[in-house]
Amino acid sequence: MTEQYDVVIIGAGPGGYNAAIRAGQLGLKVAIIEKRDNKKLGGTCLNVGCIPSKALLHASELYEAAEKNFEGLGIKTGKVSLDLVQMLKQKDDAVEGLTKGVAFLMKKNKVDTFMGAGEIIAPGKVRVSGDETVVLDTKNIVIATGSEVTPLPGVEIDEQQIVSSTGALSFPTVPKHLVVIGGGVIGLELGSVWRRLGAKVTVVEFLDKILPTMDGEVSKQFQRILKKQGVEFKLSSKVTGAEKLKTKVKLTVEPAAGGDAETIDADAVLVAIGRRPYTIGLGLEKAGVQMDKHGFIVTDHFKTTTPGIWAIGDCITGPMLAHKAEDDGAACIELIAGKAGHVNYDLVPNVVYTYPEVASVGKTEEELKAAGIDYKTGKFPFAANSRAKTNHETDGFVKVIADAATDRVLGAHIVGVGAGELIAEVVSVMEFGGASEDIARTCHAHPTRSEAIRQAAMGVEGWTMQA
Ligand code: FAD
Ligand code: NAI
Repeated sequence: MTEQYDVVIIGAGPGGYNAAIRAGQLGLKVAIIEKRDNKKLGGTCLNVGCIPSKALLHASELYEAAEKNFEGLGIKTGKVSLDLVQMLKQKDDAVEGLTKGVAFLMKKNKVDTFMGAGEIIAPGKVRVSGDETVVLDTKNIVIATGSEVTPLPGVEIDEQQIVSSTGALSFPTVPKHLVVIGGGVIGLELGSVWRRLGAKVTVVEFLDKILPTMDGEVSKQFQRILKKQGVEFKLSSKVTGAEKLKTKVKLTVEPAAGGDAETIDADAVLVAIGRRPYTIGLGLEKAGVQMDKHGFIVTDHFKTTTPGIWAIGDCITGPMLAHKAEDDGAACIELIAGKAGHVNYDLVPNVVYTYPEVASVGKTEEELKAAGIDYKTGKFPFAANSRAKTNHETDGFVKVIADAATDRVLGAHIVGVGAGELIAEVVSVMEFGGASEDIARTCHAHPTRSEAIRQAAMGVEGWTMQA
């Protein structure tokens, strides 16, 4: 038995480790438990998610630029060639550095770290089964155990030929033909990485568009851009079987609505059809913690159905994003500490880190139409933005959507280089309840891509000046 904690957090991803930091800041006695085999903190995001994928996206983007664009910019390099071992190593170095950073932050904020699997064995008691077994005594338990890959029946993941995102972060050689099942964010990001490094990439998507939850215009134009880059798409299609041969996988693909099947030969297959909450081995049923039919822990302001047990991040409903988990973590701890913790789920930005990037916040046109809300839009293409033109990066556009009556900004959708950084401006404006005119009348530096946001905002009232 250890001393009494105020909070014990199970899971050290962005939800858990940020909750731990906030608890430390607020003077709570806090412990965090993590069971990853590599004994590293940071969860899915740092170990096998956001960080390694972005490391490969960055390196592969530069590789492709060196191969295809440098000459046009007047840069002579000789023949560019791939050192995949080094590219994978720099990715692992990024992970190593950042996971160590989280360990440092735990120490700095006086968080006790326990490596092992956490299980709730009684009210206020969590057993950690690691190199040794300890039982932690606590007033509050925060479950932050994240999510795992959704499996696809008939297409069994072996992390060699048929991989999840984890395997696709470490292919030892570039597959000749990579088939990606799922035209969502993982499929398009990791598909982009391996296409840039030389793979033929085919994306099989069940629905009739990629990034199906994004604004329809974004998804259409973005698909066109990816097609131009060489990605092949099979929309409205489903994979119904996979036969593993010695060096190939034969996939059976059918129209989603039914019809004749065809087979596709792949050297590697990436299954990326979504993620599901991960709560195995926590003892939730015994503890009386309810889950919904999809396995998400049911919460009300992070409180589960059992007093003293809270849940945050990917294992509860809401976007499965690192920054949402992080915000959940801080707000949950503030509520535990008697403060007014709050997350504005309407304003969680969504970014796809491809080339160009896709970023969105707030409502899509489709959502507003369905809700019967009158709106106006302003659009501006990067082809008319001076910085984008100067840099020969003109694909994409900005769309700002505002309430037709009040001009309050309801959403923004960007396809373009740097979209992930650009969206932050609109998130801030929306958080303050700002109008499109507020953006349109704010001075933006020239020449920057941010001017495209201003020009799009001007367009809401019909006075775009530069297109
Ligand atoms: P996790 O990060 O999943 O952490 C949960 C932790 O709990 C894990 O380390 C797990 O080992 C541990 N755990 C589970 N059960 C127990 C137990 N019983 N005892 C002890 N420990 C336990 N999001 C973004 O916002 N931006 C991105 O660019 C992005 N890229 C991604 C790329 C990929 C390939 C993937 C797979 C995901 C990506 N995500 C991204 C999503 C992001 O990783 C998740 O939303 C985020 O990690 C969720 O944080 P979390 O703290 O809820 O859970
Ligand atoms: P996703 O939900 O983004 O996309 C899954 C896609 O697969 C959808 O388009 C869906 O229609 C399709 N699909 C579902 N079943 C299918 C089937 N049987 N056959 C063909 N297509 C099918 O899920 P994804 O890409 O696996 O990513 C999981 C989550 O991880 C994301 O939702 C996101 O929350 C997070 N993530 C975030 C990133 C970011 O913020 N940049 C990067 C990577 C992951």
